[in-house]
Amino acid sequence: MKLYHILNTKQFNVHILEELFTLASEMEKKDKAGRLTPSLKGKIVATVFYEPSTRTRFSFEAAVQKLGGAVISSESASHFSSAIKGESLSDSIRVLGNYADAIVLRHPKKGSAELASSVSPVPIINAGDGSGEHPTQALLDLYTIKKELGKIDGLKIAVLGDLLFGRTVHSLLNLLSLYKGLKVYLISPPQLGLPKEHKAYVKQKGMDIEERADMENTLSDIDVLYVTRIQGERFESKETYEQLKDSYVINRKTLKNLHDKAIIMHPLPRVTEITPDVDSDRRAAYFRQAKNGLYIRMALLDMILNST
Ligand code: NCD
Repeated sequence: MKLYHILNTKQFNVHILEELFTLASEMEKKDKAGRLTPSLKGKIVATVFYEPSTRTRFSFEAAVQKLGGAVISSESASHFSSAIKGESLSDSIRVLGNYADAIVLRHPKKGSAELASSVSPVPIINAGDGSGEHPTQALLDLYTIKKELGKIDGLKIAVLGDLLFGRTVHSLLNLLSLYKGLKVYLISPPQLGLPKEHKAYVKQKGMDIEERADMENTLSDIDVLYVTRIQGERFESKETYEQLKDSYVINRKTLKNLHDKAIIMHPLPRVTEITPDVDSDRRAAYFRQAKNGLYIRMALLDMILNST
């Protein structure tokens, strides 16, 4: 299977994931030994972000540069690109595709990456399309689970927080649905549950899911606790956000019930849902997870840009 556009997680299978994870792990080893090959030499990658980002944009840009490529970038494209003059996303993409060999795009509108891919002369990598998907985050999330726990099949995983708007959860669940024997607890306030059609999709793929509002009683039964931020920017009512934003707080005390070998993940940024006193707990994997993003994105770019 050849990778070209990366628009959503439904385009992956276990075989390609394994290939990507092997390459990411090689990238990490070579990087640590100072022996990376400049496989993106002569390539230009455009990072075009219409929404804020820290990890995704910086890790993509670092990935390109570590592999000898160059980056052109708009970190605030809604203000500093011609979007402010009224140019459509399609027109901007058509033009940028003449300057770059691939475009990494983040945009507030669901479906924007797909739209971009329909006019782009070069590969589009979806770095988050509104509340839709964030496929490269899910790739690094899955890679982290595999690296930390040695397997994915058969795990018990709780995803917690904003399952309605949280695009990282949407993408992660799709990838997890490719694996066998998983038990997945969906923990959210009732108003922020996983969309119905998404539940139906993972169920139909054979995933055993169970919705719960209560976190405490689930902790003793899981291998992975995947925490997400309540996505304030996607709420229509500020009041509702205020009511829900502190629905779950993980601190040292709550973690007493989580077993020793379990891991705590978060795509970051965290706000109040994990208190900083958890950071020094060895089960807290979220900063290791963020680092894995660099190697996954190196591997992904290498596979996309060097597979012709
Ligand atoms: C996430 C995103 O942008 O969806 N951040 C990230 O890319 N690591 C999660 C979030 O913003 O809550």
